[in-house]
Amino acid sequence: MTLGVCYFPEHWPSERWETDVEQMADAGLAYVRMAEFSWARVEPERGEFDFDWLDEAVELVGEYGMEAVLCTPTATPPKWLVDEHPDIRQADADGTPREWGSRRFTCFNSPTYREETERIVRTMTERYADDPHVAGWQADNEYGCHRTVRCYCEDCAAAFREWLESTYGDVETLNEAWGNTFWSQQYSDFEAVDPPGPTPAEHHPSRLLDYYRFANDSVVEYNRLHADLIREANDDWFATHNFMGDFPTLDAYSLSDDLDFLGWDSYPTGFVQDRQPGEPTTDELRAGDPDEVGMNHDIYRGAKRVPFWVLEQQPGDVNWPPHAPQPGAGAMRLWAHHAVAHGADAVLYFRWRRCRQGQEQYHAGLRKQDGSPDRGYRDAAATAPELFDLAPVDAPVALLHDYESLWATESQPHSPDWHYWSHLRAYYDALRARGVQVDVVPPSTDLDGYAAAVAPTLYLAGEDLAAHLADFVADGGHLLLGARTGEKDPHNQLHEALAPGPLADLVGARVARHESLPEQFDTTVEYRGETYDFRTWAGWLDPAAAETRGQYRSGEAAGEPAVVHDSVGDGTVTTVGCWPGEGLADALVEDLLAAAAVDHADPFPDGVRAAERDGYTWVTNFTSDPRSLATPADAAFVVGDDTVGAYDVAVVEAPVDEVGLE
Ligand code: GAL
Repeated sequence: MTLGVCYFPEHWPSERWETDVEQMADAGLAYVRMAEFSWARVEPERGEFDFDWLDEAVELVGEYGMEAVLCTPTATPPKWLVDEHPDIRQADADGTPREWGSRRFTCFNSPTYREETERIVRTMTERYADDPHVAGWQADNEYGCHRTVRCYCEDCAAAFREWLESTYGDVETLNEAWGNTFWSQQYSDFEAVDPPGPTPAEHHPSRLLDYYRFANDSVVEYNRLHADLIREANDDWFATHNFMGDFPTLDAYSLSDDLDFLGWDSYPTGFVQDRQPGEPTTDELRAGDPDEVGMNHDIYRGAKRVPFWVLEQQPGDVNWPPHAPQPGAGAMRLWAHHAVAHGADAVLYFRWRRCRQGQEQYHAGLRKQDGSPDRGYRDAAATAPELFDLAPVDAPVALLHDYESLWATESQPHSPDWHYWSHLRAYYDALRARGVQVDVVPPSTDLDGYAAAVAPTLYLAGEDLAAHLADFVADGGHLLLGARTGEKDPHNQLHEALAPGPLADLVGARVARHESLPEQFDTTVEYRGETYDFRTWAGWLDPAAAETRGQYRSGEAAGEPAVVHDSVGDGTVTTVGCWPGEGLADALVEDLLAAAAVDHADPFPDGVRAAERDGYTWVTNFTSDPRSLATPADAAFVVGDDTVGAYDVAVVEAPVDEVGLE
């Protein structure tokens, strides 16, 4: 378990580099990530390469006992390249090109950009192939950041037509799969299909979903180009990528076969402001929301079920959210420990030093622009000696997360309040409040070894998925299914049979009708004798074999089944028609954990979380209120003690079910 930092030696005079690197080593850092935006610096003119600066920086990193993580620089091609080949730029849906001048504006499908990518990546990877100080590579930087997974240029239009032809074979099959008799949308050949541009009314949802799949596949192919070249140069290197938090348009799982492990970029106080509905609390503005951050850790760990890296960790105040309060004192240490508790093997702070030029001047580094240490540096130096080697996380529960269901529900949300991630979080937060480790995995994951699985929204469901889940339950698994499951087939058409379509036999019920409800309606449900709130969505269930465990108590749905439960072989299936509020989610999760015999703690309050890894339990306090812990009398604390202060952490050698608050 180690720390590291992202460093841009090219932003500073070379005389300073050794001091910087020495200070990194003094803080106990082990990895230095470099070069992700350096293309114009390594190749100032076509074919004229200057690697002296990077050679020297890598050498210094090695001299001070650390390792370099290098990055392919393709997120920022130089101006000369764009001037030579303006067609490498992406286009918006209305055809407007995305301009040079910031970053991430090049098209994943441009044959020219793929050639140029191959040229620069091959040159760089071959140069460092025998360098003993390079541990591995990050491919590119944040694929799709700034809404760039989906591009609408001519190259994408041509590639989309080919993708459709290879997916469907002939155009009649495409017309059938999408249901193109609606609004006269039949095509007579593949050449007639365009990317979905601006239209007066919404697009055909099946066309949108396939465009999103195609755009995603384009990134997969583009990433594979990098990963293959990295391995070709040196098979001992790792290849990874830095994904983003709550990132909707790129299916991280689909890139995982080509990467050794996944990395991601964690900015807790930004995420609570710009990617979840509602107003953040002041504690969240200081330290973020542990479940928002935790769910992303668990997605990137779940992708390969191996330890992940945080390739960028917030170092202090940042420049891109609406507001930039200073993180609470100690938060940069808290975040590193929290990541380790969720299975990270390395946490790299972004960036070393606040930059004097360019777009990120208002983004902190571990050190200030005058070179003096900021709070992030002190937190990193305090954290490094506290970390120790650990076995990977062993999660008893799988949460099934499906990017295609996210894309499909977001194009037909049927309520302005429908928010895929928040609905997932209703269940995730309830599990995490009880200290349960959760692998957030794609639905096709082999579920052997999990005691329970929670699937909040498997909106697109075919026969294969139904059989896969039925096998899990027949083998003794305990399954909790949420609202909007099985509404559509994989082409985004409603199943002819009522929801949950092919899952109906397993569930023992169907959805008779559904409604979406704005906030002014009373939305209550009774579950096992208690009354709870729900929100936004109500599926009125019609049980066949299943037993009714919950009924709506308000509105037109009053008396209709809302939660049903069935036993199948040694396993059970519980199906929920509504979006549960916090109380109902906790009750459902408590019953699931009891059925599956999963050890867990009593619920921790919001902002305080516990997680067990390798026999140790981390208690992380993302709030400003100190907390007193109750732990077994003989349990040793390896970090902190039984009082966890504001934005503080304790690590105790005890199982999570024996740890609680006083
Ligand atoms: C990330 C990005 C970095 C930097 C950082 C600022 O999204 O990968 O290059 O821009 O945000 O917080």
